[in-house]
Amino acid sequence: MFPLTVAIFSLFSYAVVAEDCLTALNWSTGKGRILLNGQPFVLKGVNYFGFETETFAPHGLWSKSLDGLLDFVRNNNFNAIRLPFSMEMALKNPAHPNVNCQANPRICKLNALDLMGAFIDSCAARGILVMLDSHRLSQGGGITELWYDKGYYTEARVLEAWDIILNRFGSKWNVFAIDLKNEPHGAASWGWKKQDTDWNWAAERFIKLFKNTRHFKHIGARHGNFKGLFFVEGVQANAASPNKNSPTHFWGENLEGVTWNPVKTGNRNLDARIVYSPHVYGPDVFNQAYFKVGNFPANMPDIWNMHFGFAKDRTGHPVVLGEWGGHYRPGSPDEKWQNALADWLHKKCMTDQFYWCLNPNSGDTGGLLNDDWSTANTRKLNLLTRVVPHPTKVKRTNGQICVTHGRYLNSDCHKADQTTISSDSTASQEQYASDGHLESGVKPE
Ligand SMILES: *[C@@H]1O[C@H](CO)[C@@H](O)[C@H](O)[C@H]1NC(C)=O
Repeated sequence: MFPLTVAIFSLFSYAVVAEDCLTALNWSTGKGRILLNGQPFVLKGVNYFGFETETFAPHGLWSKSLDGLLDFVRNNNFNAIRLPFSMEMALKNPAHPNVNCQANPRICKLNALDLMGAFIDSCAARGILVMLDSHRLSQGGGITELWYDKGYYTEARVLEAWDIILNRFGSKWNVFAIDLKNEPHGAASWGWKKQDTDWNWAAERFIKLFKNTRHFKHIGARHGNFKGLFFVEGVQANAASPNKNSPTHFWGENLEGVTWNPVKTGNRNLDARIVYSPHVYGPDVFNQAYFKVGNFPANMPDIWNMHFGFAKDRTGHPVVLGEWGGHYRPGSPDEKWQNALADWLHKKCMTDQFYWCLNPNSGDTGGLLNDDWSTANTRKLNLLTRVVPHPTKVKRTNGQICVTHGRYLNSDCHKADQTTISSDSTASQEQYASDGHLESGVKPE
């Protein structure tokens, strides 16, 4: 009896998995979800770093083939890669990235930008989407607190680098998102009404460059080809927030400022493409006081909710972890932390995420690949299968892009699609005039 029931159930679930094919993907957000062609996009993402470093190439290509590494990503059911790069890489386009010619004969002589193009196309061939992530200013300088520095990398120069990247890659079908700045921290503030440190204002300024109305044709022409999503990370401290004595945050984790100062550009189309993207880590990366208390990890959901989880219901925008991870060693506090986070993501319908990372050479986390760059950490892969068992699938065939919609394990997450987030949707109706410009915003330009 039981096996029969299972068989019937799978038949039904198979029957509702529809494929839809279009000439271009339509990205938006709604009710706390990323929407692809109007339906929830179930994201299973992984970070793959290297372009932002001194190699000016994804790591591992110094010995392994790109095709083999991307096959690993695809075969483990990931549908997206977050791809860090540096502004220096974009502006200088170094001629000799570190790529082994025997393993990669087709791509080993390319300059950095051509290599990035080849990387994106190799992802496209496997139905892997790419998020371009502005991870560092210069390859050697570490991650800066702000989105610019007081030296060479002025805000104007950073935008120039984005111009180069978007002119080249912004209209590739599988470039579905850009991450405006990796891990604002230190001096970065949110809602302090300070031009030179308010990350929320900088994000708004940046996203407005994508306005493509008849009033803004000159600027629209600059970036109008990019139709994907804008990922906005949090800050570390310095958020104007209703929370008193909020426990300390990781870099980019703090979205508390969203309560009073959500990112809004005044343009309905652009605002519908904004995703909040905190980074959060466990004891392997930094042993916060709240990892050392007796009831850990049962204390974590309240902290995650206060730091960033609330923002999904509060704003109706998706909240998608851009980085999380750790060594996941058996019996370790980090393993407890990752399991607790996975459970909480299910409850919150927030399982869309990018895991850190594919690379084994991330000292404080390790990778999905072991140090040999070929065998897998199956415990981590199993964890991620549990987090996202049924990701959305995309593939390109005969000039069309076909989508097989995914499913969340927690069926309540699909029920939530039927409901509206009443307070926020009413507010946004009121704020937009018919031309899509903000009528009664709370902030000066
Ligand atoms: C894209 O999807 C959104 C959300 O479902 C919808 O409102 C919009 O009309 C779609 N745009 C196009 C060009 O299909």
